[in-house]
Amino acid sequence: MKIQIKKGNLAEVKTDLLVVNIFEGVKVTHAATAAVDQVLGGLINKTIKEEKFDGALGAMLLFRPIGVPAKKVLLIGLGKKENFSEETVRQVAAVSTNVAKQLSAKHVVSVLHGAGYGNLPAKICGKVMAEGTILAAYEFKKYKSEKKTNFQLETFLIVSNVEAHVREAEKGIALGEIYANATVQARELVNEPASHMRPIDLVNAAKIVAAGSKGQIKIKIFNRAALARLGAGGILSVARGSDHEPFMVHMVYKPTGAKKKIALVGKGITFDSGGISLKPSDSMITMKCDMSGAAAIIGAFSALKSLKPKTEIHGIFAACENMPSGKALVPGDIVHTMSKKTIEILNTDAEGRVTLADTLFYASKLKPAMIIDLATLTGACVVALGEEVAGVMSNKSELAQKVLMAAKEAGEKMWELPLEASYKPLIKSEVADVKNIGGKYGGTLTAGLFLQEFVGEIPWAHIDIAGPAYAERPLNAYTRLGGTGFGVRTILEIIKE
Ligand code: BES
Ligand code: ZN
Ligand code: ZN
Repeated sequence: MKIQIKKGNLAEVKTDLLVVNIFEGVKVTHAATAAVDQVLGGLINKTIKEEKFDGALGAMLLFRPIGVPAKKVLLIGLGKKENFSEETVRQVAAVSTNVAKQLSAKHVVSVLHGAGYGNLPAKICGKVMAEGTILAAYEFKKYKSEKKTNFQLETFLIVSNVEAHVREAEKGIALGEIYANATVQARELVNEPASHMRPIDLVNAAKIVAAGSKGQIKIKIFNRAALARLGAGGILSVARGSDHEPFMVHMVYKPTGAKKKIALVGKGITFDSGGISLKPSDSMITMKCDMSGAAAIIGAFSALKSLKPKTEIHGIFAACENMPSGKALVPGDIVHTMSKKTIEILNTDAEGRVTLADTLFYASKLKPAMIIDLATLTGACVVALGEEVAGVMSNKSELAQKVLMAAKEAGEKMWELPLEASYKPLIKSEVADVKNIGGKYGGTLTAGLFLQEFVGEIPWAHIDIAGPAYAERPLNAYTRLGGTGFGVRTILEIIKE
C-alpha cells in the first residue's frame, strides 16, 4: 500500500472512498470537510442535522454522493474536541482503512485529520495517519487456505490545500511508515506458531534483518557451546527440557561518530509451557507470544537502516524454549549464571527472569549508558494493569520518566511500578544467592527486583509487556487479535531522541 500526501482540492479527486471528519457536538462541518460539503450542496450538514449525527468518536455516515468524483464519502466522528489527540487520528485513519476493506475499495483519499481545526502539528498528523493505516491493514492470514483476495488497498492518499501542511505531513508519513512497518515485523514473528518459530527461527529473523542492513548491523550468534563457554547457565538450564537448540543473539548497530551507547534486551522464549511446573492448558494457549520482547527488538532493528540514529545500539536476546522432559530443569535445582550469581529454581515457569539474568548481565558488561529490557515476564502484571498497559520499573527515576514519555509519544500505554527494595528479602534464597520466585503477592515487583540483581549500576528500565504483547481479542481499530508488536514504537521513539 502506498501512503502519499499531495496538495489539492478534496472535492475534485477521483477515488473509491473519500474520508472527511467532524468533531462531536459541532452543528456544521469545518475546514476541508466544509469545502467538500459545499460541493455536495450542503448534503453533509443537512444529513448531520436530520440523522442527529453527533460526531462521537468512530461514529460514521456513508454517502453515495452526486457532484463529486468520489464514489463514496465517509464522514467519521472525531469525538469531543477536548479529548482530541494523536491517538484519535491513529484510530480514525485505522477506521477508514477498515471501512475501505469492507467496501473492497482500492483507493482511499482522506483529509489530513487534526491539522486544521484539531490544531495538531501537520507532521504528527501524517505520522499517526500512516501508523493507523498500516497497522489496521495488517492481518495474519498465512495459514488460511481461503485467502481474502478482494481487498487490496493500493493507495491511501491524503489531500490538503495547505502547502505547509503537505510538506510537514510528508516527513511525518515517512516516519510513521518506518514505525508501523517495524511493528508489523514484530507482529509477524509473534504470530507464527511455536512449531514454526523455534529458537533457530528467531535467530534467522535477526540474521535477515542484519543482512538487509547494508552492513550497518553486525550480528553475533552464540550456540550451546558458545553459551557454555560464557557460563550462561541461566539460558542453558531453561533450554534443557527442549528438543530445540538454544541461542543468544547480539546485534550491533554502530554508526560512525556515535556518542552514546545503549542496550536493548528482550525475552525470547519461543514457547512457555511452564516446564516441569507445567502451566494449566488455558494459560498455555497464548504462550507462543513469550518471545514478544525479542520480536520487538528485531522489529526495532529493522527500522534502523531507515531511521539512521546517531547512537550505538546493542540488541540482545536469548532464544530458547521452556519445555518439560526427563532432562528438564526441576524445582529445587540451582543454576550458575554468567554473572557467577546462583539461582535457586523454585518454579520452572518463572523462566524468563532466569534467561534474562544472563542476557542482562551480558548487556551490562558492554557498559552502555542505559539498558532497556522488554519481557512478557509476569501474569501478575496483567492482573495489576490489564491487557493494554505495560509496567515500567527502573533503578533510575529519570530513565523511567524517559520511557514513559516516549511511550506516550508512541501511543503505547505504560505505567510505572516501584522497584520496592523492602521486598528484596522475598527473593533471598537459603541455599543460593537468589530464588526465582517471590512470595504470594507483588509478583511483578519481585520479578523486577530479581532482574536488578544482574544489571549492576547501569541505568536500566524493565518493561513488563505480558499484558499488551498479545491481544486475545481485537483491542481497537488497528489492533486485531494476535501479536501487537507492542514496545517497538516506544523503543524507536527513545532511539530517535
Ligand atoms: N510468560 C509468563 C508470563 C506471562 C503470563 C506472559 C501471561 C504473558 C501472559 C512467565 O514466564 C510466567 O509464567 N510467569 C509466572 C511466574 C510465577 C511462576 C512466579 C506467572 O506469572 O505466573
Ligand atoms: Zn513461564
Ligand atoms: Zn514466560
